[in-house]
Amino acid sequence: MSKRKGKSSRELGLELVAICGTHFFKLEHLHYGYWTLDLTIDLANLQKAQEQYTDFLISNIPNGVNTSLDVGCGTGHIAKKLIDKGYKVDCVSPSPFLNERVRTLLGDGSHIYESVYEQIRTDCKYDLVLFSESFQYVNMEQALQNTEELLNKGGYLLICDVFKVNTSVTGVMGGGHKLNKFQDLMTHYPFELVKNLDITAQTAPNLDLFDSMMKNVAAPALEASIDYLSNRYRLMAKFLRWKYKKQIERMHTKYFDGKRSAEDFRKYKTYRFFLYKKVYPIFPCTSIVKNHKEPALSCSTL
Ligand SMILES: C[S@@+](CC[C@H](N)C(=O)[O-])C[C@H]1O[C@@H](n2cnc3c(N)ncnc32)[C@H](O)[C@@H]1O
Repeated sequence: MSKRKGKSSRELGLELVAICGTHFFKLEHLHYGYWTLDLTIDLANLQKAQEQYTDFLISNIPNGVNTSLDVGCGTGHIAKKLIDKGYKVDCVSPSPFLNERVRTLLGDGSHIYESVYEQIRTDCKYDLVLFSESFQYVNMEQALQNTEELLNKGGYLLICDVFKVNTSVTGVMGGGHKLNKFQDLMTHYPFELVKNLDITAQTAPNLDLFDSMMKNVAAPALEASIDYLSNRYRLMAKFLRWKYKKQIERMHTKYFDGKRSAEDFRKYKTYRFFLYKKVYPIFPCTSIVKNHKEPALSCSTL
């Protein structure tokens, strides 16, 4: 197991989404969901949209796949669905908090690598390596080299995630590797493209939901708290406003100015389903990352 630094703010964010999502909205997943035209864009429909996304992913897994590695498994519910369908699934997740839930959900049949994907070392091989909205978090070179090593002959790499489109204008929305950089990189690895589906239209509505939550829930709640503090601790509140002026402005621009909408998402991002098959390279492929010398971890497929 790799040694890890402290929790990142992104990781904390995902854990908070998992806690609130499960508790308040009975959500099982951490992804955007797949919004078909019959679904009104409403929080009440997010659960359905997420189920549709998971079904979409699973329906696109090629025949012949038996063993799978779910990278960035989140709450573990995609892995659970796969297991219920007869696949053998191991998981990778750096979050001890989420992993405790995943262990309870999946039981002993699945091995969980509690680590970032870039650092796992194992002798196990899989028919499929799956990234469901988790590819944006990994170092691409390291992840691709790992995937090449972890896949069985003829195995598949499935990535369903946000990418940045090739434009000089950037929105305030972070997240996602550059699409052209990813596609260039793929030419250095022994993978053949099987499917490239653009599902930006079906995932973008999630951004409008997020935007409306920020405007209608988070912003008023924050304002009320600031109001309360300003009245009670006048001097302290003044000092904090002055000290964190830039951060407060940045937070407003990022979250409360309506710049994380579906419209902006469609402008600056593209949400893709990519399926690649591992093939034998005609020439020795360039290993961009050197092998780490860490002991192999166990797994459930050995
Ligand atoms: C947006 S969530 C997606 C969760 C799940 N796959 C789903 O579709 O609901 C991103 C996941 O990636 C994980 N993650 C972040 N950085 C990672 C890394 N370097 N290696 C592996 N997983 C990572 C997070 O802990 C989280 O579980």
